[in-house]
Amino acid sequence: MRKAQYIIALDQGTTSTRSIIFTPTGQALSVSRREFPQHYPKLGWVEHNPEDIWNDAIFTIKTAISEAKLDNKISEIAAIGITNQRETVVLWDKATGKPLYNAIVWQDRRTSEYCQKLKATGIEQTIHEKTGLLLDPYFSATKLAWLLDNVANARARAERGELAFGTIDSFLLWRLTGGKVHATDATNASRTLLFNIKTQSWDPELLKIFNIPESLLPEVKDNSTLFGTTNSELFGHAIPIMGMAGDQQAALIGQACFEQGMTKATYGTGCFMLLNTGDQMVISQNRMLTTTAYRLNGKPTYALEGSIFVAGAAIKWLRDGIGLITHASQTNDMATQVENNHEVYMVPAFVGLGAPHWAPNAKALITGLTFNATAAHVARAALESIAYQTYDLGKAMKKDSNSDIMTIRVDGGMSANDWFCQFLADIMNITVERPSYIETTAMGAAYLAGMASGIWNDLSDVSQHWAQGSTFRSNMKEDERTKKIKGWNFALKQALLTDD
Ligand code: G3P
Repeated sequence: MRKAQYIIALDQGTTSTRSIIFTPTGQALSVSRREFPQHYPKLGWVEHNPEDIWNDAIFTIKTAISEAKLDNKISEIAAIGITNQRETVVLWDKATGKPLYNAIVWQDRRTSEYCQKLKATGIEQTIHEKTGLLLDPYFSATKLAWLLDNVANARARAERGELAFGTIDSFLLWRLTGGKVHATDATNASRTLLFNIKTQSWDPELLKIFNIPESLLPEVKDNSTLFGTTNSELFGHAIPIMGMAGDQQAALIGQACFEQGMTKATYGTGCFMLLNTGDQMVISQNRMLTTTAYRLNGKPTYALEGSIFVAGAAIKWLRDGIGLITHASQTNDMATQVENNHEVYMVPAFVGLGAPHWAPNAKALITGLTFNATAAHVARAALESIAYQTYDLGKAMKKDSNSDIMTIRVDGGMSANDWFCQFLADIMNITVERPSYIETTAMGAAYLAGMASGIWNDLSDVSQHWAQGSTFRSNMKEDERTKKIKGWNFALKQALLTDD
């Protein structure tokens, strides 16, 4: 029998689920991807059907296996690594595995009033020091509290120990193991507002603040370890699940940002920039987040994080919302077509604004329109807006970390856009490095599972696999940069006025 050598990375994102099979040299053998429906039942509400997520997870894993011609060689699959959209919450019945309600997605703003009320009690500082997070509807705790208070009998059933709570990783793990394992990992736990990132444990004071029964919570494990094995009926053979991390932390690992000061920005639905701060838990003074980057052998490594809620989603809106483009890649040519932005700016506050503003009710806008403005200017404004927002994160992180960010490693769908990468380098006055393989989130999940199953030895072994693709260097004059940033700040100010 041949040695188990392949790894399946299951990447469950905000708009799509994909499974990729990796070889021991880090090559992708096959990829299967499926988009799934988004539900917007009320203004500011965003939900997913957990059954869609589950069905797509199984479908993409099976398809990837079959495309890699491994149907009859399942025993050659060493492990599964799971990575996922973070903060999104599922509450399910332990007896049946059935969710009580749709998953409430990280972008959902329904608890913004609840957050305001909590803020008024003066508790935010305590929460910030313990969790590294802020009181914003983005994180899981207030969404879970909403479920307990709004779904019939949920709180009473939770108190009787009949229910389980989890982020998407945890829900998938429960289902994959046939209801045998209720666990999560340190990175996903770090996004709930219930987890103390210093002690690396669920925090009784936080549970009390958000009124969450402890019995609901999963066990918190390291990122690279045995989480459980799949129910053998699913793939005809039990496969161990040996890696798990929130998608942004997985991307940091896929980008091999293992040294203090190394920074990555992932452009998926949103953009999330993480700066590795080593064993230092840097508490931000500039509205950034502090988070667990990864925890290996019980030892946490921390990161500063800037979270932008809308990046690729703005391009998706150009396509699906207003039909300005038919394919995201068109924006590259459209942006190149026009000489400049014609002072057209977009502030993509479609689900409020995240770091560093934390304005949950702000609305998106496009400013500076004249009859000279064309579709190309609007497309360019959308791309530019993501770079300006990244610039704002960089500015705040520089203050928090007391050091200059000279290089950022980029990944995710939008990083394939050369025009965008060059503009990002220009606006931030930095070097942008794009690896040869931009699916670094899935790669990170594969590395975590592969390290636990002995395919890769450790982080330095993983680093050897990172391969440079393209480099973009700043090429913009200082006065032009200043002028553009001034225009952005003016537009931003107007969007912030809509945060009522
Ligand atoms: O915190 C939310 C983040 O995990 C979502 O990631 O890749 O779906 O934009 P993505």
